[in-house]
Amino acid sequence: MVPERTEIVTQSAEETLARGQELAATIQAPLLVLLSGELGSGKTTLAKGIISGLGAAREEDVTSPTFTLVHVFRRSGENEGKVYHVDLYRVANFHDLETLGLEDVLTEPGILLVEWSERFRLRTDWPRLAIHLEHLEGNSRRIVIEREGP
Ligand SMILES: Nc1ncnc2c1ncn2[C@@H]1O[C@H](COP(=O)(O)OP(=O)(O)O)[C@@H](O)[C@H]1O
Ligand SMILES: [Mg+2]
Repeated sequence: MVPERTEIVTQSAEETLARGQELAATIQAPLLVLLSGELGSGKTTLAKGIISGLGAAREEDVTSPTFTLVHVFRRSGENEGKVYHVDLYRVANFHDLETLGLEDVLTEPGILLVEWSERFRLRTDWPRLAIHLEHLEGNSRRIVIEREGP
């Protein structure tokens, strides 16, 4: 179980990735993982950690969904289910958002990671993990994780 609010500072991309993998061990479907923070703050790096930590993909197979917008991964075994990785950076309006088909995604319990989640609020009662990343000096990043809902 993730505490209500956790704040960490990482010093490298590798450390952010490792923190994502640790976080993965504490989460279960259904869950929205809302990643916010400016370009280069580490959203994709953290997502890579979470998705690989969930056993849904190898690290090198998790890339930024900037152009493809939605990546789907499948887990097998005990924690079977789908893991989605979405980037809303290039989604201009609600019409574009609808074409991503997230409403369908939300009908079946899975794990949905959303970069640039501050752009649109998704309608669902799934529990949320809101993660905000911020540049500090150099390679330092502040990562604030807040658990919302049940
Ligand atoms: N502590 C850190 N955590 C995450 N990324 C870092 C860190 N220090 C340096 N970086 C670098 O910052 C960049 C983060 O990029 P990325 O994860 O794609 O960010 P975003 O998805 O938020 O745009 C990468 O080039 C990564 O190597
Ligand atoms: Mg990104």
